[in-house]
Parts: sequence; structure tokens; C-alpha cells
Amino acid sequence: MSDDIAHVVDDTARTTELRAPIAVLAELTHRCPLQCPYCSNPLNLEKANAELTTDDWKRVMTEAAALGVLQIHFSGGEPTLRKDLDDLIRHGCKIGLYTNLITSGVLINQARLDSLGEAGLDHLQLSFQDAEPENANRIGNHKNGQAKKLELAHMVRAAGMPLTINAVVHRQNLDNLSAMIDLASELGADRLEVAHVQYYGWALKNRPSLMPTRAQLDRATEMVEAARLRLKGHMVIDYVVPDYYARRPKKCMDGWGRHFFNVSPAGKVLPCHAAESIEGMVFDSVRENSVGWIWENSPAFNKFRGTSWMPEPCKSCDRREIDFGGCRCQAFALTGEAGNTDPACELSPFHSQMFDAAVADAATGEPDYVYRRIGGTTAG
Ligand code: SF4
Ligand code: FES
Repeated sequence: MSDDIAHVVDDTARTTELRAPIAVLAELTHRCPLQCPYCSNPLNLEKANAELTTDDWKRVMTEAAALGVLQIHFSGGEPTLRKDLDDLIRHGCKIGLYTNLITSGVLINQARLDSLGEAGLDHLQLSFQDAEPENANRIGNHKNGQAKKLELAHMVRAAGMPLTINAVVHRQNLDNLSAMIDLASELGADRLEVAHVQYYGWALKNRPSLMPTRAQLDRATEMVEAARLRLKGHMVIDYVVPDYYARRPKKCMDGWGRHFFNVSPAGKVLPCHAAESIEGMVFDSVRENSVGWIWENSPAFNKFRGTSWMPEPCKSCDRREIDFGGCRCQAFALTGEAGNTDPACELSPFHSQMFDAAVADAATGEPDYVYRRIGGTTAG
């Protein structure tokens, strides 16, 4: 924790220590060659002409580093659509940040990978939609996506760059999870992130076509546990389970405004990637304020920091400093009030509704989903 920011916010009866953030997710653009129906970007995607400039991003990075941030994750949309990405990576390295690129991979050829490496990129995180090419291409709505991703994974390993593979799973690919784990292992990934879809933004819109059944979920969990044993010492597997079948919520973002923040393509500073889905909440912009000022003073960050904002049952619960009441975005999406207990908690009065919704959605067959798209939508 850096001394200049460590202090105490006395908000009401309780006190909350304000820490320095560890990492920033820089959403450089919402533009993307893929159109995954579970994208966590907001439904109203930012257009290219609203994006921050190169100099804006460099200033954001410098201010973030001064605040104590150690890692920057370049994300989107597809961050390689920004022509200044190498320049931004170079700047991040110069000021001592660990740089990670989260990419769909379909726009990176050998020359681009070489230039990212020369700029100083420390780590690459590559997403896969499925192990089965036809289904992968259908989910991402890209006719050649899988082949491009495989090519990139081989190039990354040949370059000796650390590789994480992201597999977002849902009803339409979960039965292929075992093949996805094998694929990641064969590609030489250091780490595999198996993440069940989290239902905000586009994923919430498409929930009836993405929600797995309980039986699918249980099989997937068994597969992950078996693979962890089998691949111990070879590949680490992180597993993010779906909230809808949970009894307690996840500690979303490790607590609101505790360690992480996002910067949107247009410069809004957000406590999490889905925060813009909370209607009526105003987020400060790096165009008007410094990152340090926003981290400490932004009403949006301070609203759900710590525990003093909590209603019952969280207020008197002994887990309130363990999960911080779960996820604000999910509470808003499902109850209309971001300050409610996350309905993933079985102590929430909304919990049974949430579970019922999961069961109902999982039983809907295979309805068409809506592909993510800037300024419009198309059915899948
Ligand atoms: Fe967590 Fe609140 Fe549920 Fe307690 S009541 S487990 S603090 S969400
Ligand atoms: Fe926003 Fe959980 S995704 S707080």
C-alpha cells in the first residue's frame, strides 16, 4: 500500500481503510471482430470517435502507477484494433507496470506478435469459444476465428511468452469442456481460466440461451477437479462457477473499490467491468479528473466501499467482510437496486427467484441469441 493514499474514510458508524489499487483493466476500445453473445461490455457500446487518445491513455497509466497500481490489463473489445497498442505497452513498461494483453487473437499475425514482444509485453491471455471449431466460430460469429487462435497460441509459445487461455463456458459449449482443457494443455498454456458466463450486459440479454442445467454444471465441476489432479505441476486451472446455482455469492472484484478499477474506452473510471449496467449511477471520467482523485473521492466508488452501506441480512452477517455482500451489478440486474444483497446469497429474499430463473432458462431449449454489435443487433 502506498503511504500517500492509505488513510481512513469515516463514512458513518464504521470505518473503512482505503487501499491503493493493484491492477487496472484498460478497455481500450469496444470495437471487436468477434460478437460473442455473452460479452460483459455494456449494451450501448462506445464508438471509435469517443475513445481516449494515446496521450490520454499514457497519462492514465502514469497516474495509475503513481497511485500504486502494479499491473495493467489491456482489454476491450479487441485491444489490438488500437494502432497505438505497442506505444501504450512501451509506456507501461517504462513506468514499471506489468503488461498483460487480453485478446481474441484473430488479428495478430507473426509480425504483430513480434512487435508486441519488442514493445515489452509481459503476458498474453487468449480467449477460446470452444474446442470444436465449428461451434467456436458460430459462438464468436467469425468464420475463421478458431484457426487464427490456434495459430497465435503456437506462435506465443514459440516466442516463449507466458500464455493464459480463457474459456468462457455456458450451455452451448459446456459439454466440450473436457476437450477445451485438453486443448489448452496441448497448446502449452501455463494457466487456463474456465469461467462460467456472468450474467450482465449482453449475457443477461441472452441468458435463456446460455444458462447451463444443474446437471451440466455438476459434470463440468467434476471435469475441472479431475483435470486439476491430472495436470498438477503442468497447467494451473482457475474455475469461476455460475452464481445462479450458488448458495453464497462470490466476492465480486474482491470488494467494490478495494483493489481494482476499470477505465472504459471513453475514459470513465469504473469499480468493475459491468458497472455501467447500473442505471442512474454516475461515473467520473479521466477527462475531468485524475485517476487518484477518482479512486479516493468518486461518489460511485465510495457508495459501496466497505460494509457501512449494507442492508440486512448482510449488515449483521459474519461473512460481510468475506464476500462484501456479493456483486452490485448482479443485485441491480436482478432486483433493480444495486444496494441490495446479491440474490446469489440464499439469505437474500430474492434468492429463490434467481434459482427459479436459472432452472427456467436452462429448460428453454436452444433459443437464438443476439450477437453483440456496436449500434445494432443480429440474431444468432
Ligand atoms: Fe454475504 Fe450478505 Fe449473504 Fe452474508 S448475507 S453471506 S454478507 S451476501
Ligand atoms: Fe460489477 Fe460484480 S460485476 S460488482
